Amino acid sequence: MDKLIVHGNSTLKGTINISGSKNASLPILAATLLTDQPCIIRRVPDVSDTNYMLQILRALGADVERSSGTVRIQASKIISDAPYDLVRRMRASICVMGPLLARLGQACVSLPGGCVIGDRPVDLHLKGLKGLGANIDVEGGNMNFTAPNGLKGAEIDLRGKHGPTVLGTDNLMMAAVLAEGRTVIESAAGEPEVVDLAEFLIQMGANIEGAGSRRITIDGVSSLNAVDYTVIPDRIEAGTFMVAAAMVGEGVTLNRVNREHLTASTDVLQEAGHIVEFNEGGDKVTVHPGEVPQGCNITTAPFPGFPTDMQAQFTAMFATTPGISVIEDTIFPQRFMHCAEISRMGANIRVDNGTAIVSGVESLSGAPVMASDLRASAALVLAGLKARGTTEINRLYHIDRGYEHIDEKILQLGGSVERVRE
Ligand code: EPZ
Repeated sequence: MDKLIVHGNSTLKGTINISGSKNASLPILAATLLTDQPCIIRRVPDVSDTNYMLQILRALGADVERSSGTVRIQASKIISDAPYDLVRRMRASICVMGPLLARLGQACVSLPGGCVIGDRPVDLHLKGLKGLGANIDVEGGNMNFTAPNGLKGAEIDLRGKHGPTVLGTDNLMMAAVLAEGRTVIESAAGEPEVVDLAEFLIQMGANIEGAGSRRITIDGVSSLNAVDYTVIPDRIEAGTFMVAAAMVGEGVTLNRVNREHLTASTDVLQEAGHIVEFNEGGDKVTVHPGEVPQGCNITTAPFPGFPTDMQAQFTAMFATTPGISVIEDTIFPQRFMHCAEISRMGANIRVDNGTAIVSGVESLSGAPVMASDLRASAALVLAGLKARGTTEINRLYHIDRGYEHIDEKILQLGGSVERVRE
């Protein structure tokens, strides 16, 4: 298992390119199952989650070629059973359900297991697919879907206890594009990754309106075409480096970003006293630390609100920001595993009932720490760069799930990190 040694008191300076979005790539890769025509997808990040998805597509029978960020997939002949061994490694594999069911009229996908960031049920995914007429049996840990007479468009409300569901909206949208008639998804997720999937499907010939709003309307078509598509920049990777730049930067510029996707993170950084400047086109951003940083309050919310996927990184920043910051995660109230680890480095954080209360301390000290999930690991890297001394981050595979070459990008900015292979 690799670990990352982060040398503290680092200063980051210079320019890096932001990679393509992991969370847009995953459903887009799954959507290639909807056609027997070749699909070319560009800027797919080389992270283990996208690699798992490609392995799943291969196991389903698709022909997959990858050459750095460009992936060519042709799902001429596919089977309907997603292999448990691959599916269990990544929750996002559930987004093959919609495409398999739409294309083949049946699908068998394992129920995802526990997840460290909290309970992650699939009831809304099932509600959506049932709404289109699928029969669902759960047996032996598998979800078996059948739609012997095809899927039929319907009006379906996907509102959940914690708001809209991103992959649930994706699954339903992917199933509905080949269903007969009109589907209306109410309380849909409006995240940029959902919009990117809709754009991809539209370029394949789907009829979709309203992606990005709470109501998506889909008119089914009988088949979809070949496509050549470039995924959007990763707003969470960009946000993570923006926070790094505010914590330990001396002018860090990020190329290939999208300003509209970064509003919530930008607003909090500015409120905390840091300087964030976009170029006119909004695809390049430079961040400088402010002279008098201050704590802030954050509440996560669906897009365009503050993303839960940036909560851990901002918690790391506020750990050494003067004042008290109150951070509430309404989407995943149990997603605070990083707090105990950052506290081992000297932070003063109290977690209570979905809320972290962070009292900024003057400095952190490096320590051996354990990565628990993807964004929690990113938070530990940020804390390690800021701390005195050396931080050893174990279980690095968590970060490799979603950050493309993070060690190389930090080195490129002048930070000092070493990947130790064991
Ligand atoms: C996506 O997960 C992202 N993953 C997550 O990013 C992200 O944290 C999450 O959306 C929220 O923005 C991918 O895109 C691959 P949800 P998803 O369904 O779609 C509840 C990262 O770090 N819910 O939008 O699985 C759920 O428990 C990852 O890159 C139900 O109740 O999340 C949560 O409270 C981690 N029933 C809320 O909805 C359901 O059937 C939102 O979850 C589904 C979800």
